[in-house]
Amino acid sequence: MPTPRLLSSSTPPSQLEGDALVIAIAPGADGGVAVVGTDDPALAGIESALGMLGLTGAPDETARIPAPEGVAARSLLVVGLGRGPLTEESLRSAAGTASRTLGSARRIAVALPTSSAGEVRAVLEGAGMGGYRFTAYRSSEAGPATEEIELTTGVDGADAASADAQAHAEAVALVRDLVNTPPNDLYPASFVDRARAATEALPVTVEEWGVDELREGGFGGLLGVGGGSSRGPRLLAVRYTGRADAPHLAIIGKGITFDSGGLSLKPAAAMVGMKYDMTGAATALAAVVAAARRALPVRITAWLCLAENLPSSTAMRPNDVLTIRGGTTVEVLNTDAEGRLVLADGLAIASEEHPDAIVDVATLTGAARIALGERYAGLMGDDALVDEVRAAAADTGELVWPMPLPSELRPLLKSDVADIANAKPGSTAAGMLLAGVFLREFVGRVSDEPDAPRIPWAHLDIAGPANNPGTPFGYTPKGPSGVMVRLLVRLAERLAAK
Ligand code: BES
Ligand code: MN
Ligand code: ZN
Repeated sequence: MPTPRLLSSSTPPSQLEGDALVIAIAPGADGGVAVVGTDDPALAGIESALGMLGLTGAPDETARIPAPEGVAARSLLVVGLGRGPLTEESLRSAAGTASRTLGSARRIAVALPTSSAGEVRAVLEGAGMGGYRFTAYRSSEAGPATEEIELTTGVDGADAASADAQAHAEAVALVRDLVNTPPNDLYPASFVDRARAATEALPVTVEEWGVDELREGGFGGLLGVGGGSSRGPRLLAVRYTGRADAPHLAIIGKGITFDSGGLSLKPAAAMVGMKYDMTGAATALAAVVAAARRALPVRITAWLCLAENLPSSTAMRPNDVLTIRGGTTVEVLNTDAEGRLVLADGLAIASEEHPDAIVDVATLTGAARIALGERYAGLMGDDALVDEVRAAAADTGELVWPMPLPSELRPLLKSDVADIANAKPGSTAAGMLLAGVFLREFVGRVSDEPDAPRIPWAHLDIAGPANNPGTPFGYTPKGPSGVMVRLLVRLAERLAAK
């Protein structure tokens, strides 16, 4: 389903045409509800009717009612904003709930309150993300889908804000589409095709390493993990330079198109869903796409580490030693700890260019889900960059939680034969942190001087929030969420503004 066109205008709400007009309510005085954000006379007087329906104005509450006299749209969709101060995130969420509820409405008019360009963007982003559906693999005809969403607003800069929202909603849909695509159709080489198609019309360059180039380049992590599959690994560098002297942000994405565990095979139930294991790579790609679409004055290189982790006679074994790009040797003690192996290659080659900051994004550990649940990403790394990522998250309404990288965990990864092991068999303590401690070893230095400081680095473990297994909420459908795309774009902007 293509993302609807996201528009703004200053047409009064009652004159907006559409299958539905979205208006906001909040808890009012005396236990009733108050319509928020419009004083259109055609909508005056509906509050008592809404109260009689039992509405309270709670966040994401909805009701669809026939349009009153004088309203051009065919129906009203009332959505709750909750008590308390309006935030961009509460608007984004309400707009998402509205468009999700109205999934089959072709044209949606929106009259949510907006008092800044940021709020216009938030409403249209939420509306654009909320109506997402994935129907590519349904054999029966999909029902109608939303084609256009128009927000009425009086704020300056609404057109530019709408265009930004369009870029963001489409980038999030790109992640969701890639993640939803079944692993028989999405494998490293076809992921590359999809990345080329997504960047074709943009000022973005794509550089590809096939199996031969990976061998020549010494990418033992990608080759080891991908060695069990007949569909070989790939490394992709996707670059956008909106301003040549902008700080260079490198984003490394875990792109395991299916994670069976390899010879350390996952149990059947734990394997279902492991097509999601390429979410990090899709997120990194989508961040570049969004930045390029918006022509932001930033510089980003996304490194997509693509491999399929399968057991076979050519698969890597426990006790194999792999040589990562740059020469570090890793003893594989669990083939299911594969994400860190492909990311090690990605961190190493990204570091060779001495970018100003490195962020990796990965569905890396089940432990992250256990620790933080299904909404928060675990955030680890260097303090100053972690602070920037937290600030970016606060700007975009995405949820990250800082976690430590205790150096006393490093001895757990001692190998009897190699520089480091990829896991501590039999130990479940601090699995998310241990993975981060492993990755840190592969972050390079700011120059080729041997004792130059390390490049600022942050690690996002999105194993929890990458996928919403349950009920949809706000602008998040069931299934892949598309989180961290907007955060990464915002981070690039913040770095460029320094
Ligand atoms: N892709 C998984 C992590 C994962 C698990 C993501 C569940 C989402 C839901 C990763 O490759 C993995 O298997 N990690 C292992 C590491 C262990 C073997 C050290 C894990 O978390 O169990
Ligand atoms: Mn695994
Ligand atoms: Zn994995």
